[in-house]
Amino acid sequence: MRFSTTVMVDDRLHVEIPIPTPKKDEVLLKLEAASLNPVDWTIQTGLMRPLFFPRHFPHTPVSDVAGEVVEVGQGVRKFKVGDKVVAILTLSNGGGFAEFATASESLTVTRPPEVSAAEAAGLPIAGITAHKCLTQAAGVKLDGTGPQKNILVTAASGGVGHYAVQLAKLGNHHVTATCGARNIDLVKSLGADEVPDYKTPEGAALNSPSGRKYDAVIHCTTGIPWSTFNPNLSPNGKVIDITPGPRAMLTFTLQKLTCSKKQLVPLLVIRKAENLEYLVQLVKEGKLKTVIDSTHPLSKAEDAWGKSIDGHATGKIIVEPK
Ligand SMILES: NC(=O)c1ccc[n+]([C@@H]2O[C@H](COP(=O)([O-])OP(=O)(O)OC[C@H]3O[C@@H](n4cnc5c(N)ncnc54)[C@H](OP(=O)(O)O)[C@@H]3O)[C@@H](O)[C@H]2O)c1
Repeated sequence: MRFSTTVMVDDRLHVEIPIPTPKKDEVLLKLEAASLNPVDWTIQTGLMRPLFFPRHFPHTPVSDVAGEVVEVGQGVRKFKVGDKVVAILTLSNGGGFAEFATASESLTVTRPPEVSAAEAAGLPIAGITAHKCLTQAAGVKLDGTGPQKNILVTAASGGVGHYAVQLAKLGNHHVTATCGARNIDLVKSLGADEVPDYKTPEGAALNSPSGRKYDAVIHCTTGIPWSTFNPNLSPNGKVIDITPGPRAMLTFTLQKLTCSKKQLVPLLVIRKAENLEYLVQLVKEGKLKTVIDSTHPLSKAEDAWGKSIDGHATGKIIVEPK
């Protein structure tokens, strides 16, 4: 039997389990890097059961990975053994905290040699979410062809936020970005035009230092009520909320009923490799970068896990099988 080392971080338990066998439309990856997202530990707490995932415990967590194809299922056409790739593993299977994992062909894209495994592994959920918020939910153009918009990114030092700042600047938009004092220089270096500290009264009020009203807010943290966003929005301003709670859903419903021009838009990204290839290409061209908070060996994956739960990562937390 083939074995790989896998961690069940919930229990701080590292166990040996069989290397998975790829199904017809899957590839088997020898993993080189995995990145964490807050949803990983939300799943692991069991909060999303019984309606969603995982179906069974113990569950090997983490879905964003980069690695090398070492086996392909019979129906796989796009990849061959030896290809370097980045992939999103399904919520039901997980599997990123391991040495080997199977990925669906449709959720896997090629990784060029210029893009490191760690940079690529950071991209899937956080990068796709940032891209979707800007382009689909807020209707912002990223190729410089549309009108310049005033955009606010909250938690701009986090996984989603740091990609959102860079993508918005690719489209020449004016970006206000909130983060803590220690990350202001970093967020400016990613292109943000003005960076209020969220712990100051002006930052907490989301005021633009240059007095702008936001056409779109990419809202990547929690606990900010609509009454704080409202006075900062342009007449048709939208708040794209990727962490909507019950209050946000009530605001959304009331706004729909009253045909409000200012809108809160709850957004949930479904796992698709949509635009992942484009994001990888941007990294290759040096137009987008993955800021790496810290890198941890798989044998110490629980340190990475704890860091993500703390909620103070700057960019992406990476785990490498070693
Ligand atoms: N809807 C979806 O499909 C979707 C997809 C991806 C993520 N999400 C959710 O989006 C949220 C963000 O994800 P993430 O991966 O970006 O998280 P993350 O990387 O863990 O975010 C951590 C960062 O947020 C900053 N931060 C925390 N509170 C802040 C505030 N009030 N103002 C400004 N910055 C603040 C922290 O800065 P300090 O250290 O200085 O406090 C830290 O740098 C999570 O709740 C996640 O579950 C949703």
